[in-house]
Amino acid sequence: MNKPLQNQVAIVTGGSSGIGYAIARDLGMKGAAVLIDYRSEPEPAEALAREIIAAGGKAVAFRADVSVPEDITALVEKAVAEFGRLDIMVANAGLQNDAPALEMTVEQWDHAMNVDLRGQFLCAQAAARQFVKQGVNADISRASGKIVSMLSVHDVIPWMGHVNYAAAKGGAKMMMLTLAQEFAAHKIRVVGVSPGAIRTDINKNVWDNPQSYKDLLKLIPYQRIGEPEDVAKLVSWLVSDEADYITGTTIYVDGGMTLYPGFMGNG
Ligand code: BGC
Repeated sequence: MNKPLQNQVAIVTGGSSGIGYAIARDLGMKGAAVLIDYRSEPEPAEALAREIIAAGGKAVAFRADVSVPEDITALVEKAVAEFGRLDIMVANAGLQNDAPALEMTVEQWDHAMNVDLRGQFLCAQAAARQFVKQGVNADISRASGKIVSMLSVHDVIPWMGHVNYAAAKGGAKMMMLTLAQEFAAHKIRVVGVSPGAIRTDINKNVWDNPQSYKDLLKLIPYQRIGEPEDVAKLVSWLVSDEADYITGTTIYVDGGMTLYPGFMGNG
């Protein structure tokens, strides 16, 4: 396989399942040394590290909770200690803690905010500090570093029953834009990736049941659910030098979910 990310070092948060797992795998197969972050499931992260190593790559699993500042400092230190530098931060870890707004507790609100918004900021900040320290090494990449913020179609589509999640993703999108503006002079690129419905555990209740899957397809003009690899391939390209002139942009990988499908033949 072509190894466009050879000599680069990446951290993927939430790498033990779903979209993060697929991203860590794809980056590893494309030559990056990958630090696979997990919070509660070491086994899949460690198995993935073994798979990448068996394929001739470099990877290690590491436990860090993205909402804890000390964990994020340790995460970046681990990447540097293990692989000598850091080039790519994929701030992917995220969760839903759903409730109707009238019933949502402050704990539920804070839980989503702490992981989906504050956690992304802590990861971006810690990575950027390392990128600034390193500067540009043209033999490795034209940028001093790349940050990917994992967003959602719900950074633009309101979502009843999920106000904490939608607010966090909308906030993370503005965080990404502001950091892209602030870090550009340091040659750091910051990009957003907004997945639609992707087949992972987070929405298993929707794709696992034939009727709800049929209902879901009404929201997807392209008429299929996304796979984690659809997102992973985009991320690998965005962090490569082929995308060197892209910063402060969000790419929607959603089969058209953001195209107002309710207006098809209607309105
Ligand atoms: C959510 C999924 C949902 C998708 C499309 C994602 O951000 O995490 O649960 O299926 O958006 O609505």
